[in-house]
Amino acid sequence: MDIIIRENYEQMSKCAAEIIAGYVKAKPDCVLGLATGGTPIGTYRELIKMHREGLDFSQVRTFNLDEYLGVGIDLGKTYDLDQSYARFMYEELFKHINIKRENIYIPDGQTKDPKKFCMWYEQEIKKAGGIDLQLLGLGGDGHWGFNEPGSSLGSRTRVQALTEQTLDDNYEAFYKKANIARSQMPHFAITMGTGTILEAKNILMIVNGSKKADMVAKCLEGPITSQITATAIQLHSGDISVVLDQAAASKLKNSDHYKFVEKMKRQYGL
Ligand code: GLP
Repeated sequence: MDIIIRENYEQMSKCAAEIIAGYVKAKPDCVLGLATGGTPIGTYRELIKMHREGLDFSQVRTFNLDEYLGVGIDLGKTYDLDQSYARFMYEELFKHINIKRENIYIPDGQTKDPKKFCMWYEQEIKKAGGIDLQLLGLGGDGHWGFNEPGSSLGSRTRVQALTEQTLDDNYEAFYKKANIARSQMPHFAITMGTGTILEAKNILMIVNGSKKADMVAKCLEGPITSQITATAIQLHSGDISVVLDQAAASKLKNSDHYKFVEKMKRQYGL
């Protein structure tokens, strides 16, 4: 696991975007797993800049981690008061790059048959040959995707009830600004499971801010537990990059070691 610590949010975002761009350049038809939330916005802005300078997304396929249940849209059609992750992705990334509509997969929050949909989603990931690189943030309660405390570490794509903490966090970050009452927020979501995430070939996790410093330390240096589902990152067998800003890294016990390893790897081109 490469733990990369950068000065601030901008540097973290640049570093993450460079990692993603590396995959796209090496394999133009790569499959990216994408994430939502405040954290990846800077990364997406960097990717948009890179696209304007020639980075080509025309063959890239994407699978988003999750979506609120009860919302979701035809990309680009319904926006008003819509806080769906489909809208988020469209606004923050897709409408700015040359990705093809048919190559974008986001869980359908409006599905009439969530169970069937979730099985279909898993199959589509397999049909695409699996996810080459999965981008992830870290929830305040230690979730990745929407895998809340207590979710099995082998879980697959499914419907998940959201915790009060997640509702609070996401209300503050998104719904409040859109003038939507907290009681009106979706309380359920469709999410890839931890088992699904662990099947991605490679993982890129990004976290910023001192509010998440404790959770980052638990996730990377604490015991693996279904109470903090992102601790399962320690079980992954592919390339793992965790890019943090200084504030998010501030509670790590071994940060000097991680910095040393990064310096050595750069020095020796590893
Ligand atoms: C949501 C998403 C997660 C994301 C988390 C963190 O709960 N389902 O995938 O990682 O928010 O969000 P933020 O980046 O806004 O802190």
